[in-house]
Amino acid sequence: MSQFELKDEQNHPRTQVPEFTQIVEQSLSRRRFLGGAAALGAVAFFSASPLSRAMAAATGRSPLLGFDAVPASTADAFVVPPGYKAERLISWGDPLFSNVADFINGGGNSAADQLGQFGDNNDGMSFFPVDDSTAILAINNEYCNYELMFPHQGKQMTAADVKKAQAAQGVSVLTLKKTADGWRFAKDGKYNRRIHANTPMAIGGPAKGHALLQTSADPRGERALGTFNNCANGMTPWGTYLTCEENVNGYFGSTGQAEITPAQARYGIGTEDAGWQWHPFDERFDLAKYPNECNRFGWVVEIDPKDPSSTPIKRTALGRFKHENAELVIDKDGHVVVYLGDDERGEHLYRFVSDGKFNPGNPDANRDLLDKGTLYVARFNAAANNGELKGKGEWLELTFGKNGLTPENGFNSQAEVLIHARLAATQVGATTMDRPEWVAAHPTEPVVFCTLTNNKNRGVKNNQPVDGPNPRAENHYGQILRWQPANGRHTAADFDWDLFLLAGNPTVHQNSLYAGSANINADNMFNSPDGIGFDKAGRLWIQTDGNYSNQGDFAGQGNNQMLCADPATGEVRRFLTGPIACEITGLTFSPDQKTLFVGVQHPGEDLAGSHFPLGGDSTPRSSVMMITRKDGGIIGA
Ligand code: FEO
Ligand code: CA
Ligand code: CA
Ligand code: CA
Repeated sequence: MSQFELKDEQNHPRTQVPEFTQIVEQSLSRRRFLGGAAALGAVAFFSASPLSRAMAAATGRSPLLGFDAVPASTADAFVVPPGYKAERLISWGDPLFSNVADFINGGGNSAADQLGQFGDNNDGMSFFPVDDSTAILAINNEYCNYELMFPHQGKQMTAADVKKAQAAQGVSVLTLKKTADGWRFAKDGKYNRRIHANTPMAIGGPAKGHALLQTSADPRGERALGTFNNCANGMTPWGTYLTCEENVNGYFGSTGQAEITPAQARYGIGTEDAGWQWHPFDERFDLAKYPNECNRFGWVVEIDPKDPSSTPIKRTALGRFKHENAELVIDKDGHVVVYLGDDERGEHLYRFVSDGKFNPGNPDANRDLLDKGTLYVARFNAAANNGELKGKGEWLELTFGKNGLTPENGFNSQAEVLIHARLAATQVGATTMDRPEWVAAHPTEPVVFCTLTNNKNRGVKNNQPVDGPNPRAENHYGQILRWQPANGRHTAADFDWDLFLLAGNPTVHQNSLYAGSANINADNMFNSPDGIGFDKAGRLWIQTDGNYSNQGDFAGQGNNQMLCADPATGEVRRFLTGPIACEITGLTFSPDQKTLFVGVQHPGEDLAGSHFPLGGDSTPRSSVMMITRKDGGIIGA
């Protein structure tokens, strides 16, 4: 999210439940939801329903979760369970090279400094082992907090300030060295690299060269400049990093006469930017001068972290939208499957299936697997009549010439289907979702989870039916969706789905879906699940980007946090809490599962009073934290 959109999210007042919501609550009470027959029960799946098992879990501790829960917190601190240790790996502004300036509190660094420093608002990240004592950590830098980045708090932007903001986003690639004290960042390490909003990139896949990607600076439509608003991520088994461009629309605007097309409007692009103020100082972002530049963003970008001189490639076959993460699995037959969320209220959930097959013996043969394949979008059936929150669903193909994706409906090529993937999804009848955020596939079972973070617009008035996996109007708590592909095949045409949990507040709401599912209680409640990921043992880690007011609907939930769930029993336990006004986002493990890297994003946004991580009167800084156990054990066990 941009800071500007976050305000919109968090000031959402919830006073009274509207009438149609009450109807939903009556017909689909919490009790009925939880008491229903085994969810996904028709198929053998962890041998029993997670929701029915969630009831059992209330009486005993999950064998998978071995740590003591931490309480909700409003402290300006990063709190981990007893027996665990948290250390700071790196923070916004720390130099990657010894010839770069240190961070200066209060926004004193220049754009040139920022180009060699760790970027701002770290988000998704992946750990790449190199050898026993060396590793690479690739980390997204999503956006900036102007109120912390500039002495004028963004109120008197200059061209130099815009360059600094552009330098603070993208990706930071870090060399890590293993020491007697654990993993440490290596300044001047050979893999250290900053990728930012002006880094040259190649465009790959079916949209490469299309007229809609051509600009006066790149008349061939094959070379883009930079990446920004890099939200979540993915990694491939051939050793590359995937960084996903999310709210790119907010960087474009126009001071002149720009004609906004319906397609641009669907992507949130208009003459008013989101407040970033790039277009008055960098004409590339002025829609009147560069009407196609915006089409060159909103993609998944593949980066080779082991080669600092490599050119990142925008993989257009994966579609253009507000990408969250890119969860990549290899199907049994070798096809590469990538699950992709489009994080906007009422947008969709996607799947890419490669034409080619993964070749484990020859990494180079896999280099362009993400350029050729088929994109699909999900349609979910309504919930079953008895009110159980489960059902069936199917993947609808987004291929030019099929399913109405034809010239009569405004699609003239596969490139156009991909550049305007949202419009194509609507054309084929995809389900509108409650903001699909991260997708995570179980490490051993063919089952996939997706966070639907919240959706204040859900309801009949916005033509977003309260149904299927989106069962609550004015959904300000979020839920975690789960599906099992038919026959255990990620390439299958259809799937069974249910909800792994409904976040809620059982201390504020009783006997309604707003209380949350049975595995949510006063001790583990939270709102707005966002980052998720599995460890090797199948623990599901859940991070939140929610309302941290600790009031009203959110009373008792405290600061943003990270929880851990056992997918088999449904138990959810709070693992850590973050500092004031932060989001917890980004997670990756060392291969031995003994170090967990977690991101603290925008502590103290909107001048909320945090001084994390260094305390005193220091400027709050997004940071990557390293968590280990004092006894050297497996995280979470
Ligand atoms: Fe950058 Fe959808 O979160
Ligand atoms: Ca955020
Ligand atoms: Ca997110
Ligand atoms: Ca979010």
